[in-house]
Amino acid sequence: MAKTQYRCTNCHHVSIKWVGCCPGCSEWNSLIESVAPSAKKRSEQRSQASATLSLNSQLVTLADIPAGVTERFLSGVPEWDRVIGGGILAGSFVILTGDPGIGKSTLLLQIADKIGKQRRVFYFSSEESLQQLKTRATRLKVSAANLLFSDQANLESIIATAREHKPDLLILDSIQNCYLSETSEAIPGTIAQLREAGFQLMKLAKENNIAVLVTGHITKDGTMAGPKVLEHLVDAVFYLQAEDRFQTRILRSVKNRFGEVNEVGFFQMEEHGLIEMSNINEMLLAEASSSPGSIMVCSVEGSRPLLLELQALCVPTKFGMPQRVVTGLEPKRVVLIAAILEKYLHVKLSSQDIFFKVSGGFKIKESAAADLGIALALLSSYFQKQLPPKSVAIAEMSLTGQVKPTNQINLIIKEVEKFRLDNVFVAKRQQIKSTSNLVGFDSVYQLLKLFPDDGV
Ligand code: TYD
Ligand code: MG
Repeated sequence: MAKTQYRCTNCHHVSIKWVGCCPGCSEWNSLIESVAPSAKKRSEQRSQASATLSLNSQLVTLADIPAGVTERFLSGVPEWDRVIGGGILAGSFVILTGDPGIGKSTLLLQIADKIGKQRRVFYFSSEESLQQLKTRATRLKVSAANLLFSDQANLESIIATAREHKPDLLILDSIQNCYLSETSEAIPGTIAQLREAGFQLMKLAKENNIAVLVTGHITKDGTMAGPKVLEHLVDAVFYLQAEDRFQTRILRSVKNRFGEVNEVGFFQMEEHGLIEMSNINEMLLAEASSSPGSIMVCSVEGSRPLLLELQALCVPTKFGMPQRVVTGLEPKRVVLIAAILEKYLHVKLSSQDIFFKVSGGFKIKESAAADLGIALALLSSYFQKQLPPKSVAIAEMSLTGQVKPTNQINLIIKEVEKFRLDNVFVAKRQQIKSTSNLVGFDSVYQLLKLFPDDGV
C-alpha cells in the first residue's frame, strides 16, 4: 500500500510525520504531503526499468551528434517575442506565471491566435470551460484556423493526444488544474503530482519536439506555487506582473535556457486584450516634472532602457531620529549617497528627513547608474532649486566622491537622443559621442555648480 510521507520543498528531506520545522534545513512550514510508492510498486518499476535498459550507455563524438532544430515560432508581437528570446523555441518547455486575473490566459490566447495562423496549436484550458473560452476568444477576435481547443484536464489524455497529433505548440492553462489518474499514486494538487506532471510534459516536449507552454499559479508571497519544483525543470520561466501606477502588465523573463534573463516587455489591458506598449518612455516623460528634487535617470531592464523620474524631498527633522523613507530602489543606496554628499559638500542631510521615490511606482533593480541622479535629486531638494528641465543623469559614484562611468551607456544614450533630452549628466571619463548636450563631472564637488548661489 502507498504510504503518506512528508517532503521538504526546500531541501527534500523526507519525514514520516508532519513537523512544523524541517529537521533537514530548519525551514518552517516547508513540509508537504506526498505519497511514497509502495515497496511492490518500486520493485515493479525497477524490474521494468532494468528490462528496457541496456547495460551499456552509448557514447558519441561531438561530430556524430546531429545539429538540433533551432526553429522558433514568432508571434509577430515584438514585446512577447523579444522577452521569450526571439520566439518560442520548438521542443522547449516554458512556464508563464503571475497573480490571478493579471492576464495570463488573455495573453496566451492572443499569442496562440497569432502563432496558429502559421502553425498547429493545441490550447488545453483546464481552468475554464469551452463556453467561457469562446466568450474570451470572441472578445479578442481570435480567428486562427490551426488553433484547436479542449477543456480536458487529464494530463495522460492531453499527452496522448499531443503525441498522436504532434502540434507545433501545446498550451496548457493551467498546470495546477491538471491531474494524473492512472500512472501516479500522488494525490492531485500535491507537489509530488505537480513534479510528475512537469516531468511528463518535459518528456513530451523533448521527445516530440513540441513546444509546451503552461501557466502556473503564484503563491501569496509572489513566488511560483510548488516552489522550485517546476522552476528547476522547465527551460524558461516568465512572470506577468503589474507593479506600477499605470497598471502596466510587465512580462519578465526570470529564467531562460535559450535567451536573456531579466528581459522585460510592456503591455496594457484594454477592451480587446493586452496591447503592447512600445512607447512606455514617452508616457513616463510626459509625467515627469521639473520641480526641485526631481531628475530623470535611465534604468536598463534586460535590453530595455527606461527613463524614470527620481523624486527627493528633504525636510528638517522635527524630533528624534531623521527618517529615511525610500520606495522603488534600494534604501541603502540613498543613505550612502546622502553620506557622500554630507562628507564632501557639508550639506547637513543628517538633520533632514529624506523621502525618496521612483515616479510611477516603478522599481529600479540595478541602481548603480542612478547614483548621480540620486545625488542631484537630494541636492536639488535640499537647496530647493530645480535642475535644468529635461535633464538626465547617468553615472556611478564612489565612496571617495568621484563620479564614475557606467556600463551600457551606448544603449542609454541612444534612448536619450531619441527623446531629445537637453542635458545629459555623465562622468567626464565616460567615452561616448552624442548629439545631446553632455555635461561631464569628475567629482562630487563639481555638482554644486548646478546650484550657483549655494556654492562653497
Ligand atoms: P485573465 O487573462 O483571465 O487572467 P489570468 O489568466 O492571469 O487569471 O485576465 C482577466 C482580466 O482581464 C479580467 O479582469 C478581465 C480583463 N480583460 C480585459 O480587460 N480585456 C480583455 O479583452 C480580456 C479578455 C480580459
Ligand atoms: Mg487564467
